Amino acid sequence: MPSPETLGDVLRARIEKDGPISVEDWMAACLGDPQYGYYMTRDPLGRRGDFTTAPEISQMFGELLGFWAVVVWQQMHMPKRLNLVELGPGRGTLMADALRAAAGVPGFLDAVQVHLVETSPVLQSRQRETLQSVRPTVMWHADVDALPDGPMIVLANEFLDALPVRQYVHQQGTWHHRAVTWADGAFKFVATGSADPDRIPAPFRTAAEGAIYEDSPAVRAVTENLAGRLSAERGAALFIDYGHTVGGLGETLQAVSRHGYANPLAAPGDVDLTAHVDFAALKACARKAGAAVWGPLTQAALFQRLGIDERAATLAAAIGTERAGEISAQHQRLTAPDAMGHLFKALAITHPGQPAPPSFETPIPMRDR
Ligand SMILES: C[S@@+](CC[C@H](N)C(=O)[O-])C[C@H]1O[C@@H](n2cnc3c(N)ncnc32)[C@H](O)[C@@H]1O
Repeated sequence: MPSPETLGDVLRARIEKDGPISVEDWMAACLGDPQYGYYMTRDPLGRRGDFTTAPEISQMFGELLGFWAVVVWQQMHMPKRLNLVELGPGRGTLMADALRAAAGVPGFLDAVQVHLVETSPVLQSRQRETLQSVRPTVMWHADVDALPDGPMIVLANEFLDALPVRQYVHQQGTWHHRAVTWADGAFKFVATGSADPDRIPAPFRTAAEGAIYEDSPAVRAVTENLAGRLSAERGAALFIDYGHTVGGLGETLQAVSRHGYANPLAAPGDVDLTAHVDFAALKACARKAGAAVWGPLTQAALFQRLGIDERAATLAAAIGTERAGEISAQHQRLTAPDAMGHLFKALAITHPGQPAPPSFETPIPMRDR
């Protein structure tokens, strides 16, 4: 084969040499290959990119999370040093809006050091531009292991869904690892060696033929790391993402390109790959590591409780009647049940001695899958 020119060439050569690639490794390579990975080579956000995220829809998203962080800091008894962390900060818009909103609160910005966990060099430089004039020091890290110790508040919007999932498929009474192979001129899913049955939760072990079970060791590793830190130090982490609140069977791996769904195997490195977050697994993992767990709430409930209706009214009044419709459309997109309001969920974890973080005081019963 001639020297590889695309990630597809690289992955095909790897399969021909070593056999099928697990779905987990496929997703990791497609998103994070240092030379060809989706996030390594582009800024995918915005109307001209592949997808738009909540902080890019409206400044209200970051501003209200800035207030959330201020109240949590007050609940922590206002430590003089605070690591304000964002995981997967995209263009840096959420952090810029949060810091601007929090700037009026005496002492908060004096305490804050900003830490961004980001693997993409393209997005890192975008974040550098967005945050060049903010007051706190900003530092970048490749993963959560590199974060400094100390009291911290962590924000993560649409970060966990970008972490690789492992897939298992049930065939002829046995659970197998699901992988990607190359056959008849295309990448295809294939069942490989049998999996350790203990990896499959007991209720699913006798699933129907073809059932798929997903698990994300990467999500578990991030959760364990942060929850472990929060069991020892004051602080909180807030994850906002799409996903399910009850664990179950089914494939959620999906590809998005140009604001529409795509084939996850068709153009490796050129389409975004995501998987739904299993909030039930995340909760169990955080609890086991010693943190207190709050929620999940729907994104709509989180932002309504944080005062998005009032903030939207203030912004609409400030920009005048001609453009007030824009704010109302942004508000709708973030909170309407048929837009992002119910699809996206928010889960908080805190140091066990802290009170419920803002908006999480009263649980909302939820059952979905
Ligand atoms: C879907 S984007 C979300 C961006 C931003 N949070 C927002 O809401 O606009 C995912 C972000 O996570 C980053 N990312 C993906 N995988 C990562 C990893 N393994 N470690 C750190 N950052 C990662 C991407 O580069 C990007 O900044």
